[in-house]
Amino acid sequence: MGILDKHKFLEKNATLLLAGSFFVVTIGGIVEIAPLFYLENTIEDVEGMRPYTPLELAGRDIYIREGCYVCHSQMIRPMRDEVERYGHYSLAAESKYDRPFQWGSKRTGPDLARVGGRYSDEWHVDHLTNPQSVVPESVMPKYGFLTDRMIEGEYISDEMGTHALLGVPYTAEMVENGQADFLAQANPDSDYDGLLERYGEDSVSVRNFDGEPGVSEMDALVAYLQMLGTLVDFSTFYPDDSR
Ligand code: HEC
Repeated sequence: MGILDKHKFLEKNATLLLAGSFFVVTIGGIVEIAPLFYLENTIEDVEGMRPYTPLELAGRDIYIREGCYVCHSQMIRPMRDEVERYGHYSLAAESKYDRPFQWGSKRTGPDLARVGGRYSDEWHVDHLTNPQSVVPESVMPKYGFLTDRMIEGEYISDEMGTHALLGVPYTAEMVENGQADFLAQANPDSDYDGLLERYGEDSVSVRNFDGEPGVSEMDALVAYLQMLGTLVDFSTFYPDDSR
């Protein structure tokens, strides 16, 4: 069969043509997507970024489960009105350990990319329990049930292992101590030196976030919210591309 005959055969055979097209498109897809799995190549390093602590990671899962992203974005655009309201525009590096990212596309409520430290833990617990008690005209749903749902972090090491596989720099030691670090962060009476050593003294808050004994989903969610936007120190940050 000559090359023209081969081509004719391919074109006249719909299934073969479909399989052939799929094969070619797949190559294009792999060439575009595969390099993105190697974070080092794609995102500039910014000082201060660290992987989420186990408790923050659990809080992020609750944030996703409860659909907070449906009403809240985590992406400050580099436009004056946004920067004046929310703070420094978001950097790619700030969501490099987010799988999936939480940029969102709908702002029924305010952007949350830099909400960490803006309010007290009590404010968050009151607000999540009954948003209208703090902001009377709020349309945000009530999430008080999170305070009653106790969690132990028994699966958190497995989840961290999966994130490590995808390029998040969790060390073997971090994964191994996942559950211990999870419990320690919500209990200021515990021995949390290891947690601070592994994730950084300055950027990890150890507190009883919901003010109740034990670790609840509320603890995890508030720990996550209070960390948002606090990792990069923007008083000293200078973008690389200012050359
Ligand atoms: C139906 C839409 C909706 C959903 C879902 C929602 N929110 Fe909100 N949220 C709002 C609105 C509107 C406001 C502004 C009024 C207020 O403060 O209650 C707000 C405000 C907030 C604020 C205060 C932000 C600031 O800068 O003042 C936080 C924090 C917050 N939400 C967290 C959450 C979390 C966490 C979840 C998921 C558990 C969630 N929200 C789910 C609509 C929503």
